[in-house]
Amino acid sequence: MIAKGSAVDETDMRADLEKVLIPEEELQEKIRELAAKIDADYAGREILLVGVLKGAVMVMADLARALHSPVSMDWMAVSSYGSGTQSSGVVRILKDLDADIMDRHVLIVEDIIDSGLTLHWLMSNLESRGPASLGVCALLRKPDAAKIEVDVKYIGFDIPNEFVIGYGLDYAERYRNLPFVGTLAPHVYGGSGEQEG
Ligand code: IMP
Ligand code: MG
Repeated sequence: MIAKGSAVDETDMRADLEKVLIPEEELQEKIRELAAKIDADYAGREILLVGVLKGAVMVMADLARALHSPVSMDWMAVSSYGSGTQSSGVVRILKDLDADIMDRHVLIVEDIIDSGLTLHWLMSNLESRGPASLGVCALLRKPDAAKIEVDVKYIGFDIPNEFVIGYGLDYAERYRNLPFVGTLAPHVYGGSGEQEG
């Protein structure tokens, strides 16, 4: 028997949540807008969506379902060394693409661009594989991302320089399953280590 239940929400986070920054309905509305732009720009060409694990899983799943263009989906996992909530730009591949992207229209799907170092590295790595085109769709962008020279055509929201969680984004692997984007109460974070997309 399957028990009836309701989805995870802010009441599950108790004091760990500072505030809801972007509610679920706004995220979904934005994804539909982005998908419409992408469909118009690619005009029926087949798109290879490359999701960056693990943060991009939610946006990838919702974006892919909102697109009318023919799509295939592939995944990369990268890890950047940094301290605490900062990334350093030293990136290594934990999981590479399954597909050869030569002559394909590749669209990188990202959860968030913070320093932009991960994306900058990823773009040059994928560019070297000879795709027909390479684009980026990122749900969120923080102010520092403006410093990097990466052409991100599809951006969901520009957000303040705060640590956010939910809708794929984690802190210490938690909170990815929240349907909204929120900020974490400062008492929750701190420490150092390796962050994995
Ligand atoms: P960047 O290299 O600084 O642009 O960020 C790399 C990765 O760090 C992103 O893809 C996210 O996985 C993670 N990240 C950056 N900012 C946040 C945040 O506010 N919350 C959760 N993860 C973040
Ligand atoms: Mg990420």
